[in-house]
Amino acid sequence: MQVRDRVVLLTGASSGLGWAMAVELAAKGAKLGLMARREPQLVQLQEQLRATGATVEIAVVDVGDRDAQHAAIAELTGKLGPVDLFIANAGQGAGTTIRPFNREVQQGILRTNLLGVIDGIEAVLPTMLERRFGQIVTIASLAGLRGLPGQEAYCASKAGLIAYSEGLRIRLRSHGINVTTICPGFVHTEMTQRLAWMPFAMSAPKAATKMLRAIERNAKQMRFPLPTALLTWASKWAPDWLVARVLRSMIVD
Ligand SMILES: NC(=O)c1ccc[n+]([C@@H]2O[C@H](COP(=O)([O-])OP(=O)(O)OC[C@H]3O[C@@H](n4cnc5c(N)ncnc54)[C@H](OP(=O)(O)O)[C@@H]3O)[C@@H](O)[C@H]2O)c1
Repeated sequence: MQVRDRVVLLTGASSGLGWAMAVELAAKGAKLGLMARREPQLVQLQEQLRATGATVEIAVVDVGDRDAQHAAIAELTGKLGPVDLFIANAGQGAGTTIRPFNREVQQGILRTNLLGVIDGIEAVLPTMLERRFGQIVTIASLAGLRGLPGQEAYCASKAGLIAYSEGLRIRLRSHGINVTTICPGFVHTEMTQRLAWMPFAMSAPKAATKMLRAIERNAKQMRFPLPTALLTWASKWAPDWLVARVLRSMIVD
């Protein structure tokens, strides 16, 4: 989908990849509806983009709250019009610990990264089905392709998102709606700032450019960067002791 004059709703726009995608989408002439929980950051981004002439509306929302997300999407579409492109980017990353077992953290990750995306899709889908037009983009991760020690909940949320998106993509193809799943490797953002080891990491603006290119060509699934995607694939055949040794910095307890 070419984004000029399209209504694009983007979750997780207050930092990192979401912020970088919003900047590039605005430059390409999209009409933006931006969502996240932190209002000051959203207002700052809105002012920055409006100064360039872009159409930008914001909604402060926790995507883990279904009703709040539905209300935010209704508010944004009321101002901008029906959604052409929905980018479900909001996500949380935190380690999984077993001593103590951090159940609340793990559930929060699944609520935001998986259930929050499903709730957002629930809100935008009826109009897309009615118009027989639209594109849904889910931001997953290469971590969804391989269970990693110390990141079990995060990997599960992204693996679930990849599977959900794949089924939906096949199902919606006869309805005129495209589904694109993006699986980034390491990107320098707030989420990764505490990670000690990030092979082949790239900047958020560079990653956003790659992601938007995949969105514009309606890619089914995009994995990048190639070396990390290949390492993830190869690690499926690596013995567990080797994976544990290489990833020991990720394991808190
Ligand atoms: N950075 C990487 O290496 C990497 C790699 C693969 C995939 N990803 C994925 O890329 C996406 C963006 O992450 P990022 O790296 O850009 O991290 P980030 O800078 O921490 O951004 C995460 C964004 O999600 C929003 N968010 C988190 N929880 C939310 C909630 N409950 N409700 C609404 N918004 C929420 C945050 O905004 P508020 O805090 O203001 O709500 C923020 O705007 C995530 O889905 C992440 O899993 C990142």
